[in-house]
Amino acid sequence: MPFTANRAFKRAPRMLVAAKGMYYTAADGRQILDGAAGLWCVNAGHCRESITAAIREQAGVMDYAPPFQMGHPLAFELAQQLVRMLPGDIDHVFFGNSGSEAVDTALKIALAYWQSRGQPQRVRFVGRSRGYHGVGFGGIAVGGIEANRKQFAGQLLPAVDHLQHTHDLSRNAYSRGQPRHGAELANELEALVQKHGADTIAAVIIEPVAGSTGVLIPPVGYLDRIREICDRHDILLIFDEVITGFGRLGAPFAADKFGVVPDIMTVAKGITNATVPMGAVCVRGGIYDAVINASASGIELFHGYTYSGHPLAAAAGLATLDVYQSEGLFERAASLEDYFGDALHALRGAPHVVDLRNIGIVGAVELEARPGAPGARGFETFLKCFEAGVLVRSTGDTLALSPPLIVEREEIDRIFETVGQALREIA
Ligand SMILES: Cc1ncc(COP(=O)(O)O)c(C=O)c1O
Repeated sequence: MPFTANRAFKRAPRMLVAAKGMYYTAADGRQILDGAAGLWCVNAGHCRESITAAIREQAGVMDYAPPFQMGHPLAFELAQQLVRMLPGDIDHVFFGNSGSEAVDTALKIALAYWQSRGQPQRVRFVGRSRGYHGVGFGGIAVGGIEANRKQFAGQLLPAVDHLQHTHDLSRNAYSRGQPRHGAELANELEALVQKHGADTIAAVIIEPVAGSTGVLIPPVGYLDRIREICDRHDILLIFDEVITGFGRLGAPFAADKFGVVPDIMTVAKGITNATVPMGAVCVRGGIYDAVINASASGIELFHGYTYSGHPLAAAAGLATLDVYQSEGLFERAASLEDYFGDALHALRGAPHVVDLRNIGIVGAVELEARPGAPGARGFETFLKCFEAGVLVRSTGDTLALSPPLIVEREEIDRIFETVGQALREIA
């Protein structure tokens, strides 16, 4: 099982057998309120009729079409719908099947871009400590989670640096929205440029809000400064929006929320409301043109997947974007942000809590680690919440809350009351 304590799970399994709207049904018949949108991905709620119907229908019309030297209309239609939603001049899309594939594809497109611009020496990537970019070899190299690398020690990407993360409880504890302090941490990028030379650096990859390592929200001005430094030195900026995309922050994308447009964006998860696996890399027109025009003829990008733009995923994606738009779910998320934040911050003073932070419909409850047992408190709280009928996500000693954007106020209350009760019950 992925990222799971296999032996413990098999001794005491937690099985889900059905889902509808805001709720899962567990194997023992209990209704479980989904405080995590599955795994940050079911943004429109579970088993939405129009999405499941689109998948069923497409399965009966054309189950599969090869994407190499062939095409099908739904993939192009989805790319076009997506482009209408994307920020700035990001206007081309390449499909894969997951966030991890999107990340590795984005890194490869960045390298191909520099080759096409006659700068093949630009091969260095800059990631960030505590960044999560999936589990491909590229993703774990630029990612900043040591545990995800050390089991596979060996040669990853040849040249990668990591910026510091921006999480700083000494200055920013209990922030609402963007923390005030830390924009200056972006200057580290300038130092790396001075050290290596801009002409060796292909791209910087950043999660605008780091999700998987505990909801690390960018300080005011930080992303703007990263963008400025990239512009000054002609370095590509990649935003990994696998979690932050599709309304999670109360805007279509983090790029919109923070007013900073990257050159390349990776998305996945919410693109199909998690019904059929799909990921995508979205690039500015200039990147597309450079790679395509550099090739005299024939195949321009030696990359792709058997299931790139799979018909069922494309049908699911189109139906999903339609739900987001017709129900105004991104605006709904924005309108709930304060209520969600108030409910989260009401946990101030609860046992073990050392920080609460929120943005859009994402909240984090950071706990003090139990001495000698990092992560134990977080995991036990997750288990208690599940027993009490609420699914939350624990990552180390931080609980992350990110319910579907259809969440009602009473459900927000219940999520945080359940967390509060669980914290009172654990040691
Ligand atoms: C920011 C980010 N990038 C990439 C990924 C990897 O996505 P996947 O698990 O679909 O490969 C994730 C997954 O959580 C993520 O949060």
